[in-house]
Amino acid sequence: MYLRNSWYVAALSSEIEEKLTALRILGEDIVFYRTKNGEPVALEDSCPHRRLPLSQGRLLNNNIECGYHGLQFNRSGQCVAAPTQNRIPPSATVRSYPVADKLGLVWIWMGNPKNSDERLIIDIDNYDSPAWEITSGDSLTCACNYQYLTDNLLDPSHVGWVHRSSFAAEGTDNTPLEIMETDKGLIVHRWIYDKKPPPFYEPLVKFKGNCDRLQHYEVQYPCTAINKGIYVPSGKGGPNLKVDDLAYIMISYNFLTPIDGNNTRYHWLQHRNTDINNKKLTATIASGAKTAFLEDRKVLEAVHTGIANETNRHINLGLDSASLQFRRNLKKLIDKESS
Ligand code: FES
Ligand SMILES: [Fe+2]
Repeated sequence: MYLRNSWYVAALSSEIEEKLTALRILGEDIVFYRTKNGEPVALEDSCPHRRLPLSQGRLLNNNIECGYHGLQFNRSGQCVAAPTQNRIPPSATVRSYPVADKLGLVWIWMGNPKNSDERLIIDIDNYDSPAWEITSGDSLTCACNYQYLTDNLLDPSHVGWVHRSSFAAEGTDNTPLEIMETDKGLIVHRWIYDKKPPPFYEPLVKFKGNCDRLQHYEVQYPCTAINKGIYVPSGKGGPNLKVDDLAYIMISYNFLTPIDGNNTRYHWLQHRNTDINNKKLTATIASGAKTAFLEDRKVLEAVHTGIANETNRHINLGLDSASLQFRRNLKKLIDKESS
């Protein structure tokens, strides 16, 4: 059901503090905190004695003290104090998960700790470039399986109906899509030529008149989606594009973390190459993105329920080719990992 040997976003970095925070990830209950010097820690949220969640205990000198009988666990999950016992029981341990702070997010490795390597966390091109601006991350909880979100993020057609007042424009409903497979996942893309920019982007692009627009929808295994939009004046776009000063580029990075089979935590951030010091614009983009993702959530939660309760098997359309291929490829990776 899940690819375990992978980094998942657990929370915004600002959400993990020097206090206990309980999160459920891939169906596992995990307690997070930061040590006094700011390093994030993630432990199994269950005391090995009577299974009280450790998140109901307290943080004591960088360790967690269980709130029932005071067993204390360090950041490696080893018991370091057992006040009611003459000695520390050797089997008193909890699982400790590799964690990392990167891109303003706390990441957790859900597989074999030996395979965790921070270099496997996604790199964002131009992240430190002064010519690019980040709209810092936000998040939502969606009551649907994470694969409905990856389906949606490989489906540029949906904007014509789900985001009618923001991302939709002439051409989003019927321009043919191309699928490209990479070693990390799939890309669905298309150029839409000589059309008015959609309402969300119209105030942002740096030219008047019609545009050529690239929609690049990419999902990397298991559930990281990169959604790139490029806008250039009409006549300049196309596969051999040379990005000039009039190109407006916005890349949305979307990180999906399964909570369990029916719920997903959705984190995102946006990166753009214009108006880099315009905080008002950054706020507009942030609220516009959230509005759009709430539109997605409403549809995808209803799709999850609709398919869970269906009495006749639902059908697929041509626009589902990429998401179906992605699901098949991911299943092969999951099967290989668990074999
Ligand atoms: S339940 Fe944790 S010490 Fe007893
Ligand atoms: Fe959407």
